[in-house]
Amino acid sequence: MDYGVTALPGLPSRVTICEVGPRDGLQNESAVVPVEIKAEFVERLVAAGHTMVEVTSFVPAKWVPQLADAEQLLERLTFADGVRYPVLVPNQRGLDRALALGVRDIAVFASATETFARRNLNRTVDESLTMFAPVVERARAEGLGVRAYVSMCFGDPWEGEVPIAQVVAVARRLMELGCTQLSLGDTIGVGTPGRVAALLDALVADGTPVEHVAVHFHDTYGQALANTLVALQRGVTTVDASAGGLGGCPYAKSATGNLATEDLVWQLHGLGIETGIDLGKLAETSRWMAGVLGRPSPSRAVTALTGA
Ligand code: HMG
Ligand code: MG
Repeated sequence: MDYGVTALPGLPSRVTICEVGPRDGLQNESAVVPVEIKAEFVERLVAAGHTMVEVTSFVPAKWVPQLADAEQLLERLTFADGVRYPVLVPNQRGLDRALALGVRDIAVFASATETFARRNLNRTVDESLTMFAPVVERARAEGLGVRAYVSMCFGDPWEGEVPIAQVVAVARRLMELGCTQLSLGDTIGVGTPGRVAALLDALVADGTPVEHVAVHFHDTYGQALANTLVALQRGVTTVDASAGGLGGCPYAKSATGNLATEDLVWQLHGLGIETGIDLGKLAETSRWMAGVLGRPSPSRAVTALTGA
């Protein structure tokens, strides 16, 4: 059924979705999904029209056992033309592993808060930036794209409200290292639209062009779509989302699923914003993955479109 398209002024005509389901989604599942299912998941996401799929992490298996098969997954994937397949890389060892498999896009992941930096990276914020510096330098010299996440941009479960100036300071240092894109993480999904606008305004005022900024919302309090709309109004054109709303972070208590890609695509297409994604194919993929995981997708759009 076609329900029509009505544009709103001041929004971009096209948005790139960074699909994080295979990484941010599956890292948080208690069950380890078999590598051949992960490969099929990635291939189906690409077949549904995704041009950016974050596939896995090159971190020690003891830190994220769910993604311990990163090598085996990459070996199974065929990189499609025009599609980027970023992987998370925390250090030089991770970069070695990624380069050995022909990876062309990586993501480093910093924290706006000291507590999460310690829990997620076993480092202070400063030490983690020192760890990333040679990774970013070498990756750029090899011609790779380098995303930089900043986690806990809107709130931290141990520290509470996170000052905007603290987020801006970490973001600036990541951009100074040479990262090509900044992804602002609402790791535990506590942000609300006014805060999103204020943070984006502060970042741009500090000198980070909005073209380099992506947003990464988790939907814990149902704010992810409202937050996204404000980010689009501020000129953001890359939005992270997870097929079927899979996701969370094993090192952040109270982190629930990411913004569901299907919910996002429903909104964007309703606004007349192009994504290149076939919503029916994507929802069918999430219904299939929900079957693999043995529970329904939390995405409203997946439920509405597939009856799952
Ligand atoms: P550490 O334990 O301090 O590491 O962890 P280390 O350097 O002392 O090394 C310990 C052992 O691991 C050594 O082996 C290393 O060789 C090995 P051993 O000598 O004991 O045999 N090692 C590695 N092995 C494989 N691959 C590697 C690697 N590095 C070291 N890359 C470290 C420090 C940074 C490695 C660890 O803290 C880590 O990997 N943390 C990442 C945890 C993670 O992936 N969290 C989830 C992602 S973040 C997230 O979800 C948020 C996000 O979605 C955005 C948002 O929502 O806000 C991105
Ligand atoms: Mg996340």
